[in-house]
Amino acid sequence: MRALVLAGGSGSRLRPITHTSAKQLVPVANKPILFYGLEQIRDAGITEVGIITGDTGAEIRAAVGDGSAFGITTTFIPQDAPKGLAHAVLTAEEFLGGDDFVMFLGDNLIEGGIRHVVEAFERDAPAAQLLLKRVPDPHRFGIAVLDAEGAIVRLVEKPKDPPSDLALVGVYLFTPAILDAARRIEPSWRGELEITDAIQLLVEEGRSVRASTVEGWWLDTGKKDELLEANRIVLTGLRGRVDGELDAASSVTDDVVVEAGARLVRSTVRGPAVIGAGAHLEDVHVGPFTSVAADCRLERCEVEYSVLMERCEITDVPRLEGSLLGRDVRVGRTERRPAAHRLLLGDHAQVEISEGRL
Ligand code: TTP
Repeated sequence: MRALVLAGGSGSRLRPITHTSAKQLVPVANKPILFYGLEQIRDAGITEVGIITGDTGAEIRAAVGDGSAFGITTTFIPQDAPKGLAHAVLTAEEFLGGDDFVMFLGDNLIEGGIRHVVEAFERDAPAAQLLLKRVPDPHRFGIAVLDAEGAIVRLVEKPKDPPSDLALVGVYLFTPAILDAARRIEPSWRGELEITDAIQLLVEEGRSVRASTVEGWWLDTGKKDELLEANRIVLTGLRGRVDGELDAASSVTDDVVVEAGARLVRSTVRGPAVIGAGAHLEDVHVGPFTSVAADCRLERCEVEYSVLMERCEITDVPRLEGSLLGRDVRVGRTERRPAAHRLLLGDHAQVEISEGRL
């Protein structure tokens, strides 16, 4: 059994972060999303891992390396363009070598790992096995329709008028039959070779396609709000540890991780939260569900329910929340006249200002 991790794609819903970096490497609780999946694959006993890459291939390659840090062996497989999940499978044909495989979307997180589902797939040997989760907003997902016995009748990709609320979780188990099906489908209305169409073909041909429902959480981190929610959930239940330095006027609750080399001066952190190595906090309050990455510098500000990537600088900002900041972002206050907001924002940046209402 092999694993195919999809870490290409265009990431258009997470711009501007994805203009410069891979969405699969955005940190959740200060660890790249992709790493959680690689660890779960390893924990399921799979060591041969192919990683589909796109425009951000160099960054993915640098972050994952040969896989030894995860106890796996990696093969990077460039996809010429993000032409769909079934196209990614076809691109990986040589790597898959006729084996069964688990396909794992590199921006998905699931609770509790995949060991049980891999074991069930190996035991029952269906042509494909899917994971499903009930969602409140099914039009955003690939959706499965089941019959009274729970067998899959039909799959639809991001339906405008959803026939059920059972979304396809981004972990699929396949036999090589999926390659044959993927070769026989046409691009969808959005121009992609959809994995749902290939699976649908297996269903129509009477192959056994099983589904099981995920009880725990499943997070697709492709957009800002989802990513912040993923960060909240992963941080929840964190066991605190202080390896950095706190002065006498600073305090943290016991569900806060302060990494080595981080320094807190007259600051409080109410967890769950993580403060990365080398971060400097001075006269700051960090509220729950916040991840501050390595080497950030925060002065005279309050931050809550946010993800700050490496080397951000925030100064004199009374309150920041629900925010995702990329690397080396600076947010500050100025006394310069005229009193106004001065912005230097990349394409597709988003700013919400709440003070100074006219
Ligand atoms: P999506 O999030 O569905 O697609 P996307 O990355 O293009 O995002 P957006 O809709 O915001 O533009 O893809 C799920 C995962 O699969 C994600 O990790 C990217 C990866 N992927 C590929 O590797 N190749 C592809 O052709 C596609 C479509 C996605």
